[in-house]
Amino acid sequence: EQIYKGKYDHYMQKEIHEQPESLTTTMRGRLIRGDSRKTKTVLLGGLKDHLKTIRRSRRIVFIGCGTSYNAALASRPILEELSGIPVSMEIASDLLDRQGPIYREDTAVFVSQSGETADTLLALAYAQENGALCVGITNTVGSSIARKTHCGVHINAGAEIGVASTKAYTSQIVVMVMLALAIGSDTISNQKKREAVIDGLLDLPYKVREVLKLDDEMKDLAQLLIDEQSLLVFGRGYNYATALEGALKVKEVALMHSEGILAGEMKHGPLALVDENLPIAVIATRDACFSKQQSVIQQLHARKGRLIVMCSKGDAASVSSSGSCRAIEVPQVEDCLQPVINIVPLQLLAYHLTVLRGHNVDQPRNLAKSVTTQ
Ligand code: AGP
Repeated sequence: EQIYKGKYDHYMQKEIHEQPESLTTTMRGRLIRGDSRKTKTVLLGGLKDHLKTIRRSRRIVFIGCGTSYNAALASRPILEELSGIPVSMEIASDLLDRQGPIYREDTAVFVSQSGETADTLLALAYAQENGALCVGITNTVGSSIARKTHCGVHINAGAEIGVASTKAYTSQIVVMVMLALAIGSDTISNQKKREAVIDGLLDLPYKVREVLKLDDEMKDLAQLLIDEQSLLVFGRGYNYATALEGALKVKEVALMHSEGILAGEMKHGPLALVDENLPIAVIATRDACFSKQQSVIQQLHARKGRLIVMCSKGDAASVSSSGSCRAIEVPQVEDCLQPVINIVPLQLLAYHLTVLRGHNVDQPRNLAKSVTTQ
């Protein structure tokens, strides 16, 4: 076991740090030269016979639980942008509880690291009964979801042992971005965007390596937060999912209450919680939502909020201009890939908080890696 962890103390730590390699493996052989030899294109072998049907879908429905659901949520905007198809989100248990509508004209995409999650599997049976085309995105070759879906893509992130999903999350996002590129590859109008995203994908492992250098800074921050009862995480747009996923990591391993909040909802309730004591992490990296997040930061500062702001490199001074805060600078990448970068400091924070608080990192109490019962 020690040998497999290599130089790391815990699997979660190892899995966070191996993301540059796992992402490289996820993309291997899938970004290839297009017909003109100048452009690059995406090839997802497991989907090639079904792409036409997917493009004709009335809607795409993402279905998953926990981290896998969050990864799908992070990928929704680029899929909508590049495919022009409406994308709905379903937490598997909620879809089953409601017996929500699924149609023959739908493509249902099942996202699961293990491929064995009970609710996701039951939702798959339900979608099949309703005649949808079912696509699986899993990390486990031969898993139930891989076998029972009509077609799919393996994320190839390598075995993930820690109960807290880390490298699978980033690989899932990358696969879903590639899915968006593949579905949208027949439209001329998005050509420039597609090329920028493909270039961004090829560069992503290097950027992840860069953001991992924040390890010591996140350990310092964990030291400051060690005795806190709660941590709020505000995000929006592409990074609403990052807020949910960062909060999920903190609660499941560090056993600290944490909540991911859609920043656009701040004035509809969460603002009442803000005072000089409660730590609040705000994700405010550069994208179309940046100016709205600047305004959120100003409003939180005006209420003396205790802020930790994640911003793009070079923005620390500007996000601190309306009040003091701790800024975490991360590399800026293409908007749809920014969630892959932004989750890494939060994974590191959750890891260090867990170690400092003396909890079990790889086997948090009450949790199983794969939830095979309802
Ligand atoms: C992730 O950190 C959690 N342990 C959990 O939310 C997990 O993502 C969820 O149970 C879904 O698992 P799956 O991806 O194997 O379906």
